[in-house]
Amino acid sequence: MNEPLTLLGNRCPETFLVEYWQKQPLLIRDALPGFTSPVSPEELAGLCCEPEVESRLVLEQAGPTPWTVEYGPVAESRFAELPETHWTLLVQECNRYVPELAELREQFNFIPHWRVDDVMASYAPAQGSVGPHTDQYDVFLVQAHGTRRWQISTDPVPGDNFLPDIDLCIMREFTATKEWILHPGDMLYLPPGVAHHGVALEDCITLSVGFRAPGHAELLNSFADHMASRPGAAQRFADPALRLQQHPGEISSDALVQVRDILQKTVNDDATIDQWFGKFITEAKNEHEPEDIETLNEQQFLQTFAETGRLYRDEQIRFAFIANNNALFINGQHYPLSTELAFVAPLLCDQRQWSYTQLQGELTQPGFAKLLTTLYNQAYVYFT
Ligand code: SIN
Ligand code: CO
Repeated sequence: MNEPLTLLGNRCPETFLVEYWQKQPLLIRDALPGFTSPVSPEELAGLCCEPEVESRLVLEQAGPTPWTVEYGPVAESRFAELPETHWTLLVQECNRYVPELAELREQFNFIPHWRVDDVMASYAPAQGSVGPHTDQYDVFLVQAHGTRRWQISTDPVPGDNFLPDIDLCIMREFTATKEWILHPGDMLYLPPGVAHHGVALEDCITLSVGFRAPGHAELLNSFADHMASRPGAAQRFADPALRLQQHPGEISSDALVQVRDILQKTVNDDATIDQWFGKFITEAKNEHEPEDIETLNEQQFLQTFAETGRLYRDEQIRFAFIANNNALFINGQHYPLSTELAFVAPLLCDQRQWSYTQLQGELTQPGFAKLLTTLYNQAYVYFT
């Protein structure tokens, strides 16, 4: 697990985490030796015409104002109208549509899966860029096709240094402290908040392996919603011991003690917090709409698995587990595991595909085949 990785410039993952992760940028030449883009400009253009694909077109000069953003789906006819230079097409969640990009994401296994977001792909003709900006998340920028000049600045970015009235967070002033030209297979790691500006020097595809970090407000809102929907939350403030107050306008300390007690009991419950977080963090970005599948019983499932030889996790479905709770979380649902079945949690959550030979022994353990059959019937896992 902690062997040196070419992807990290022959550093061990642990060294990368200690020295660079969330701390400082790192350029890795030839992180993916001989890399050729698994997706072509035409395929990206095709993807952004699909209504279910999240995409954006950023026009530096050709829109009504500088830096116009057009949101997908993009009409096919739009491409004929675009200028020769100075625009970028961004396509989100490409790992769902291009299997090689799902495999690329797996190379970042040294970061916990729940922190990984998606692989975004951008296509730009010469001079295409999304402007100098900062992102709130860590990102690995993999050069897939053509060359791009990346400039970065590790100087702090004041909150007022952004262009007003546009849909992009573009910096008004940007002075690079470092710059490099990236060729296919080169990779640049940027921690959150580092200002960067990438300009295509020719036809160029860049892949962004992006990470997620829930905002505190998002955590608080989701947790409060979760707690408020529990049966206990239907109770009301009660004060049968109420005594006459000198000032009817005062909120008494007795009332405040009770209010604090209601709130503190909620946040002091570790098991509840763990269970909520497992569900929250494995929720799919967009609602999972499974294609129609023929449901199988356990016997049929095992037979199909033996015949096809391999089972895959749907790219959109998030799996995670909490070891000391024997808790498995899939797509926002909690699957409590018996102690005997606890071993399946890492097996299911660490990998994104399983061969029949690998699981054959474990499948005889009571409950495991039943669980996999349920996951198959919910279209969380599939055969080729
Ligand atoms: C791009 O691929 O053009 C932009 C990626 C980024 O800056 O995050
Ligand atoms: Co960026």
